[in-house]
Amino acid sequence: MIKTKLIDGYPFVSYSKETYPEAEMMKKSHEYYQWMDKRRTVRDFSDKHVPIEVIENIILSASTAPSGAHKQPWIFCVVSDPGIKKQIKVEAEKEEYESYNGRMPEEWLKDLRPLQTDWHKEFIDIAPYLIIVFKKSYELNADGSKGNVYYAHESCGIACGFLLTAIHQAGLVALTHTPSPMNFLNKVLNRPENEKPFLLMPVGYAAEECWVPELKRKNLQEITAWY
Ligand SMILES: Cc1cc2nc3c(=O)[nH]c(=O)nc-3n(C[C@H](O)[C@H](O)[C@H](O)COP(=O)(O)O)c2cc1C
Repeated sequence: MIKTKLIDGYPFVSYSKETYPEAEMMKKSHEYYQWMDKRRTVRDFSDKHVPIEVIENIILSASTAPSGAHKQPWIFCVVSDPGIKKQIKVEAEKEEYESYNGRMPEEWLKDLRPLQTDWHKEFIDIAPYLIIVFKKSYELNADGSKGNVYYAHESCGIACGFLLTAIHQAGLVALTHTPSPMNFLNKVLNRPENEKPFLLMPVGYAAEECWVPELKRKNLQEITAWY
C-alpha cells in the first residue's frame, strides 16, 4: 500500500521496488541486453497504419524519463499530415543536400559511407508518423514570464532513449534523424522561440524488404573502466 507524508511541507509517497534473487536478476538483465541489442536504426519504412494509441503510449513512456529538477523540458510533436510531412521532407532534403555537398568535412563523409546515407530522405514521407522532439531552453509561462529549466540537453537525450526503447518494445522501428541545421522545424510546426528542435524521428513498421548496415558494437572492455 502506498503511504503518504509531508516532509518540510512537501508531499512524499512511499516507494518500493520489486527485487529478484541474483540468479533471476542475471537472467533478466542478460535477456534485456539481448533484446536491446536487436534494436536497429532503420531507413526503409513501410507506410502501414499504426494506431495513434500506440504513439501516445510510446510518448508517455518517454515522458517518464528523469529530468533536471523535474522540469520535463520537452515537447513531442507528432506529424501524420501528409502535407506537413512533405514540407518537412523538402526542407530537410534542402539542408541535407548542402551538408552532403560541401558543409560536411571529408572525414565525416567517409565515416558515413558504411551507412550509405545521402541527402535523399524518402522515409520522411513514407513513415506513418514523425515524432519531432523539441527541447525547451526555458519555460514560457501562460502570463508571458520565463521559467528556468536545468540540464535540458541531457534530459531530452534520456527521454529520446526511453522513446527509442518504447518504439522497439512495440515492435516498431525509428530513425534518429538530425537534418542539420533543424531550425526550419520551428517554422513549419509554428513552435515558440523557447523550443529548439532536438531530434526528428520517423516511426513505423520496417519495410518488408529492409536492409541495415552490418555493424559491430564495442565490447564491454572497450566501453568500461572499472575502479
Ligand atoms: C544523435 C544522433 C543523430 C543521428 N543522425 C542521423 C541522421 O541524421 N541520419 C541517419 O541516417 N542516421 C542518423 N543517426 C543514426 C546512426 O547512424 C545510428 O544510430 C548508428 O549508425 C548506429 O546504428 P544503430 O542505431 O542501428 O545501432 C543518428 C544517431 C544519433 C544518436
